[in-house]
Order: sequence, then C-alpha cells, then structure tokens
Amino acid sequence: MNTFAETLIAWQRGHGRHGLPWQVRDAYRVWLSEIMLQQTQVDTVIPYYGRFLARFPDLPSLAAAPVEDVLTLWSGLGYYARARNLHKCAQAVMDRHGGAFPADPAVLAELPGIGRSTAAAISAFSHGTRAAILDGNVKRVLTRCFGIDGFPGSKNVENALWTLAESLLPARDVDIYTQAQMDLGATVCTRGRPACVCCPVAERCVALRDGRVGELPTPRPKKVVRERDGRFAVIVADGAVLLERRPPTGIWGGLLSLPELPEDADTAPWVSTRFGLTVRKVERLAGFRHVFTHFTLNLQPELVDVATPGACNEATLLWQPLDRLDDAALPAPVRKLLLQLTQRDLLTGAD
Ligand code: ADE
Repeated sequence: MNTFAETLIAWQRGHGRHGLPWQVRDAYRVWLSEIMLQQTQVDTVIPYYGRFLARFPDLPSLAAAPVEDVLTLWSGLGYYARARNLHKCAQAVMDRHGGAFPADPAVLAELPGIGRSTAAAISAFSHGTRAAILDGNVKRVLTRCFGIDGFPGSKNVENALWTLAESLLPARDVDIYTQAQMDLGATVCTRGRPACVCCPVAERCVALRDGRVGELPTPRPKKVVRERDGRFAVIVADGAVLLERRPPTGIWGGLLSLPELPEDADTAPWVSTRFGLTVRKVERLAGFRHVFTHFTLNLQPELVDVATPGACNEATLLWQPLDRLDDAALPAPVRKLLLQLTQRDLLTGAD
C-alpha cells in the first residue's frame, strides 16, 4: 500500500484545488493568503486578496502604509488582530530580514501573527521546505484517519498530533502534500457530512472502519457560553455619524466604532456631557446579537439625534458622512447597522 502522503499527493493532482491566486512561489503572496485564510474560507478571501494586492503589491508598500489603511482593506474579514499583526510582521521583515521572508519555519514562527502551522505552510509553499502543518482541517483528517481520541486543542493531544504529522511527511512534493491535506479537510473530510465515498484514504480510515466519523475529532469540553451586553450610541447630525476609534486591544481593537454607553448611563445627559452636544431626541433601536469566538455580544443601539455635528477636538473622534461608510474601517455588524439606518428618513435629512 502507498504511504498516507503518497496517496494524498496523487489525489491532490487529480482532485485537489488548483489555480488559486496564491499558488505561486512568492513568500509575500503566500504569507498574505495564509494569514487571510487562517479563519476565513477561500471564497470569501479571494476578492479581499485581490484588492489587498492591488493596493499593496509588495512588502515595502505594506510596511510603509498607515495601519488604518490596512484595517480599511480588512474591514469585513473579521479577526482584526490578524490585520494589525500583518502590518507589524511586514515591518519586522523589513527591519530584521532586509525585506525578504526567511525560509526557515522556526525563524518565520518568531514573526507577529505567524504560528507554527502557518510558518510551515508558508515555507512549504514558497520554498518547498519539509515541514508539517497542523491547522483545524488537518487535525480533523488525522484524528479520524488514525482514530485519535481527546480534544485536539488540549496540549497532550496536540503534541501527539504534531509528532504524527511530522512522521507522515513525504521526502518530496511537500508543497503538494500540504495543499492536499488542506483540500481534503475542506472538500471531503468536512466537519458535517464528510464525503467518505470520495475519500482517497477511506481504506485506512480508523474512524470510518469503526463507525466513529461523527464522533471525531472529540469536541471541546463544554463550558458555558459567555454573553455580554453593550449599549452603543448612534449619534447623528446632518447626515453624519459620530465614530470613535476603539482602544488597540479588546473587541474590534483599533477599528472605528460607535461610542459605547456605560451600562447605567442616562443617554441624553451622558452624550451631552461626554461630547458637548445638544441632544434633540433619543430612540432605542432594535437590539441584535453578534457572535465572537469566546462570547456573544448583545448589541443595543440607541439613536441620538443632535443639533449640529459640533467640532471634534479629540483625535479618536470623527464625524463620518453616512454616504461614505466605505471609507471607514468599521466592524461588519456596525457597518450593517449604519447601512440599515441610512435607509431611514431621519438620517437622510428629510423631515
Ligand atoms: N487554507 C489555508 N491555507 C490554504 C491554502 N493555501 N489553500 C486553500 N485553503 C487554505
């Protein structure tokens, strides 16, 4: 029987994904794609990747840009720490490595935003380095195929999976093998309804043999989902909304967002004291939920109509015209809320 890797390489040639825009031997392009693909699917990434490269065709242009421009292009992709780390990483490669990405995965893994698996993928794709990857897709493939119990995010199971992944590496064609594992996880050995009839390693799959495909990988031990409530002020005047830059850490770090109202604050007096504005009317809007990785945010927007935009003398505040929302680095749910509001008469200036 062929080895696991040989079987996957042959399968990738015939059935894997080809012609993806980042399938080039160029570390900058490969790195950018791997960061975008860390938590996001291929179909979503492709248009962002194209726009990003059009604006930042190479590492020096990205390193020299203001981080706000990077965040604006990232707006809607989510997990914004990726964008901030991307920018930091570009500057670190310029400073520490003279503008050329190192080939050694261990050196790559010292850069911001690049973990062990991403470092291995970048090095395998751009230099053909023999290094193992272990992302969520690969964990699923390995736990099923080799019948490994235990939550793959726990240290001991993860260590065992790294050892297994390294032992399976082929002597050559590591780039094709790396893509094969990603492709198998994304298109065949999927989380729900895996297509085992199409699987090139079905014959050797322990989970399939034992009827345990639905049980593996072992889910994360249950813990209570945390919820948080947030009140957000949608302060509008003359077709513009008051935005505030969020602190660099925490949710939506560094993005522009709606000012968050303290839990017990009385809206009108708080807005007039905090921003020196004359409040005409406050209206509670429909609340909605936004799910983050570690908690759910219950967003309660309150529309605050103020007399005139007034001057902003704080660097973190800005009046954004509601017909130019595309120019602002906004979190996706805030953008959606504001776009919905622009449909309303109140904000378009009509009485
Ligand atoms: N997910 C992570 N890296 C990928 C790649 N290079 N191609 C497709 N999906 C991926």
